Amino acid sequence: MSVAKLKSPGLKNRKRKRGEIEASLRALVRADIGEVNGKIFVDPEIYELERERIFGKAWLFVAHESEIPKAGDFVTRKMGEDPVIVWRGQDGKVRVFLNVCRHRGRKVCGEDLGCAAQFQCPYHGWTYSNKGELIAVPFYEGYQGRLDKGELGLYEAPRVESYGEMVFASWEKGKGSLGEYLGEMKWVMDLLFRRSDGMEVVGSPMRWEVDANWKLGAANFAGDGTHVYTTHGFEPALGLRTMRGRSEKERPANYVFVTGEGHSATLVSAPADEPARPYLALPKTLWPQVESRLSREQLDLLRPLASVVGNLFPNLSFLCNAKQPVPGGAGELVSFFTLRQWQPTAPDRMEVWSWCLVDRDAPEEWKKASFLCYTRLFGAAGMFEQDDLENWSEITQALRGPIARRLRLQFKLGLTMTPARDWPGPGMAYRQSTPVDFSERSFYRRWQERIARNGAF
Ligand code: FES
Ligand code: FE
Repeated sequence: MSVAKLKSPGLKNRKRKRGEIEASLRALVRADIGEVNGKIFVDPEIYELERERIFGKAWLFVAHESEIPKAGDFVTRKMGEDPVIVWRGQDGKVRVFLNVCRHRGRKVCGEDLGCAAQFQCPYHGWTYSNKGELIAVPFYEGYQGRLDKGELGLYEAPRVESYGEMVFASWEKGKGSLGEYLGEMKWVMDLLFRRSDGMEVVGSPMRWEVDANWKLGAANFAGDGTHVYTTHGFEPALGLRTMRGRSEKERPANYVFVTGEGHSATLVSAPADEPARPYLALPKTLWPQVESRLSREQLDLLRPLASVVGNLFPNLSFLCNAKQPVPGGAGELVSFFTLRQWQPTAPDRMEVWSWCLVDRDAPEEWKKASFLCYTRLFGAAGMFEQDDLENWSEITQALRGPIARRLRLQFKLGLTMTPARDWPGPGMAYRQSTPVDFSERSFYRRWQERIARNGAF
């Protein structure tokens, strides 16, 4: 039997199986009735589709510009499972390269961050400039003119753009811009990412691994308000704060915002009987910057907020929360602002990357207090972080079983909602007086649309 004949049945089987999975995806996620099948969190074939159709195409966050301010600065990151170098060239332009040598596939750069004009691959010495060009090949003459250096630079992401100092890249040679992808979400992002004259990352991102499917983190931050009362119930249990339901009247703003692209944010204001925390408890010295950068509608919305949490589809979540008193600050609250990326490494495993952002012009003491607040609550050993991770790994483990993965999981809170008439921004937002599953349904709906057809981002 020929080699071709030996191979073809396996290929056919794989294609048939993929066709079956694509056909069944519609049944696996029923956003219209708020049901999601457990299989999507553990199935290897579905994970393979995600790698190609979501992480191989979508606009993915790769770095904050403050991490690579000077020519030659780089950080190494992941786009899905692909390792990348985010590198500012001598010309000042930020490029994103696959961190894989074009010779035999070794990772070219093994560092987390640094500044370099060039990298030499440690295996056989092929050398690349910070514009990605292949500039040196040992024993070049021996190739007798059959090796075209001009064709073998580092493989470069065709689309790289920034919004609010956040650098995103996509492997797809599509026409759509990052601005179009973010759409109406930009108006909400501005409240956090562009609220002052510049943000900066404190130190480097923390990283840890979890035995959990990446979507559990993304959907939770997209808008799981229900878990706060049980998962994070330690706060009222320890007497750190009361955890009682609030009527809508007690909160000037309490919106769930979603876009057709699957981005979402939950904006919650402080109840009237809690301490004031104007502009998410930013220091007063920053208020003039905030007031000059945001519109009147944005300022009115931002002023009473206590927290903003959300997710940019697919896997970048954010949270800004006014939480703890400034040490020695006469009862003033300090806020922290974290970005977290859920990086898949297997159907049942992910790396969590977590950044803390502060306003560049904030007082140094405030920056320290904000970072401390972040590490206590959402750093690798943060109290809230640990609570969440345990749930997600327990879910992933439980759904591995052949019976468990058939279960239809429930996302039905607030199934029928009408848009808020008083939402001051673009797009549509919804009022919530008690938690709803609206954002999670929106996330899974978009996930299904993206994965069921091989569409362009
Ligand atoms: Fe990089 Fe050979 S694998 S030089
Ligand atoms: Fe949580």
